Amino acid sequence: MTESIQDQIVEMAGGAPVRSAPSLLAALKALGLAVRVEQGFLRLVEPLELLDAQKIRELMVSGAACEPVICWQIDSTNTWLMARAAQPDFHGTVCLAEQQLAGRGRRGRHWVSPFGKNIYLSIGQRLPGAASALSGLSLVVGICVVRVLRGLGLQSVGLKWPNDVLLGTGKLAGILTEIASVNRDSARVVIGIGVNLRLDAADLGQIDQPSAVIADQLPCERNRLVAALLDELLPELEQFSQRGFSPYREEWAGFDVFSGCEIRLLGADRETLGINRGVDQQGNILVETAEGLEAFNAGEVSLRPRDKP
Ligand code: BTN
Repeated sequence: MTESIQDQIVEMAGGAPVRSAPSLLAALKALGLAVRVEQGFLRLVEPLELLDAQKIRELMVSGAACEPVICWQIDSTNTWLMARAAQPDFHGTVCLAEQQLAGRGRRGRHWVSPFGKNIYLSIGQRLPGAASALSGLSLVVGICVVRVLRGLGLQSVGLKWPNDVLLGTGKLAGILTEIASVNRDSARVVIGIGVNLRLDAADLGQIDQPSAVIADQLPCERNRLVAALLDELLPELEQFSQRGFSPYREEWAGFDVFSGCEIRLLGADRETLGINRGVDQQGNILVETAEGLEAFNAGEVSLRPRDKP
């Protein structure tokens, strides 16, 4: 997309009518943005709040240093940061996108990432300690996301181990943490978060699990949500790097939607049935099975409620 077309779409997002042209119409269609034509001028049918780095910084209250990089279209914000993990300024780099063309989820899944609707956010972190010090990181990120969403008024948001953010039975947000490099004293990781604000029927048709969106519950500004997420995450990641997961264990248990429920854990070659007994000091799930209490880590298994396929 040319810069001038992008500028025109920015104008339209601000509410201004823009003279219709075939190239602009084609670009709007490709982005999935509906328009109406009024005497040769185009207007967006739905309001469009574009991400704005300056606005995000102004809305942040934690004082955490942050210069978000905002991409219009990108393959994946996680991939973008993974490619930059060796750079000296990697730690604390924040990448956001209006649209991901190859958004990635856990277990090789695709993360549906339409233009201008949701949050696609990745943060680069250099954490002290070897890979074992990272255990529980994605659970802490889940805690931060739930704190923010509950703070917005979504009181029934909770977590499914290890880090699916659920609203009712639908997935509202997902977290993908990836290790870019690790040595004896530190690891470089990319923390990716996708939050669904709005998904239309075509988006939902591409998702093979129940989804939830914020817009069904309350109005939500994207820049405000990003600022709140960064305000929560950046200081908490600092705390996690010093103290590990154990101080978060109880809070995580309070958000666990399947606490005390009968669950199934699906591994590569084994299925385990038992009762969910929360998480240990490393964030492994504890399951009461016929053999006793067993711990599983997130790399090994995925969780299902007992009665779901
Ligand atoms: C999951 O499957 O639950 C994890 C989804 C993670 C999606 C986010 S969106 C921002 C970042 N970039 C990606 O490609 N994936 C993560």
